[in-house]
Amino acid sequence: MRTKITIVGAGNVGGTAAQRLAEKELGDIVLVDVAEGIPQGKSLDLLEAGPIYGYNVSVTGTDTYDETTGSSICVITAGRARRPGMTRTDLLAGNAKVVKSVVENLVKRSPDTILLLVTNPLDAIAYVAYKVSGFPKERVIGMAGVLDTARFSTFVAMELGVSVENVQATVIGGHSDPLPLARYTTVAGVPITELLPREKIDVLIKRTVAGGAEIVNLLKTGSAYFAPSAAITEMVTAILKDKKKILPSTVFCQGEYGLKDIFIGVPAKLGLKGVEGIIELSLTEEERGLLHKSAREVMAECAEVDRLIK
Ligand code: 2OP
Repeated sequence: MRTKITIVGAGNVGGTAAQRLAEKELGDIVLVDVAEGIPQGKSLDLLEAGPIYGYNVSVTGTDTYDETTGSSICVITAGRARRPGMTRTDLLAGNAKVVKSVVENLVKRSPDTILLLVTNPLDAIAYVAYKVSGFPKERVIGMAGVLDTARFSTFVAMELGVSVENVQATVIGGHSDPLPLARYTTVAGVPITELLPREKIDVLIKRTVAGGAEIVNLLKTGSAYFAPSAAITEMVTAILKDKKKILPSTVFCQGEYGLKDIFIGVPAKLGLKGVEGIIELSLTEEERGLLHKSAREVMAECAEVDRLIK
C-alpha cells in the first residue's frame, strides 16, 4: 500500500505543505477542508503541476474524512491564524474546538496514525489532540521548534554574514515564549557566544521570540506559511523515512527537564514510531528558569483546555 499523508486545513500553511510534500514524493496526499471547493481546487492544481515539476503522487481534495482512512501521518493546520495585535492564546477557545472535532474524525479512520499539530496556540493544541485521541504520547507531536530554530538561524546568519548552512541553532520552550539557547547555537562548530557580544545575541533572541508576530504585522491578513510548511516537511520526512533525526519538537514531557504532563518544545528523535526519544540538554540555572517560565504559560493554557474539551 502507498503511504498516505493527510493534511487538514487547506489554507496557506496546509496548501503550501501539500505542495512541498508532493514535490518530495513522500506519499499520496489527502487535503481536507470544510471550505467546499478549496481543497478540491488546490489538489487539482497540484496534480496538474506534477507533469511539469516531475512528481507522481495522487493528491485528493475533500471536505469529508473518508478519503483519509489509513493515513500514516495527519498534519493538522486547521483553525484560525493570528491577525495583527492578537496573541496565539487569543486563538485557544476557537481552535481547540476545531481541532477536537478534526482529531475525532481522523483517529476513527486512522487509529495507527501519527498526529502532527500545527494549529495555534501550538503547545496547548497538541495537548487537545493528545487528550481527544487517547493516543500514546509518541504519536502526538507539535511543529514549532523547527520553525523557531530556523528563524534564529536566519538572524544569526544575517548578523554574521555567513551561510545559513553553517548555523546550527537550538531553540526549546513553548511556541508562544520560545527560548533560543545561545550556548548551543554554533556557526561551523563555534558557539555564537564566542562570535557575538551578549547584547547583539539578545537582539537576535528577541527577534526570534517575536518572529511569528513580525510576519503577521507585515502580512496583516494572516500569518507565516513558507517557513512553517518547510518545517512541517522536514518533520514529516524525518518520520516517514524513519531518519531518527533529532529535531526540536513539541512533545509530551513526563519528567524530562523537570516538566511533568506538558507539551513543550525540546529536542526529540523522530522516526517511524513518532517520538523515539527526548534529548535532555544540560541547562544553566538561568536557562532552566526561563524554560519553566515558558512552561507555566503552557500549563495555564492546558488548564483552560481541560475546561474547554470536557
Ligand atoms: C508562526 O510562528 C504561524 O505560529 C506560526 O508564524
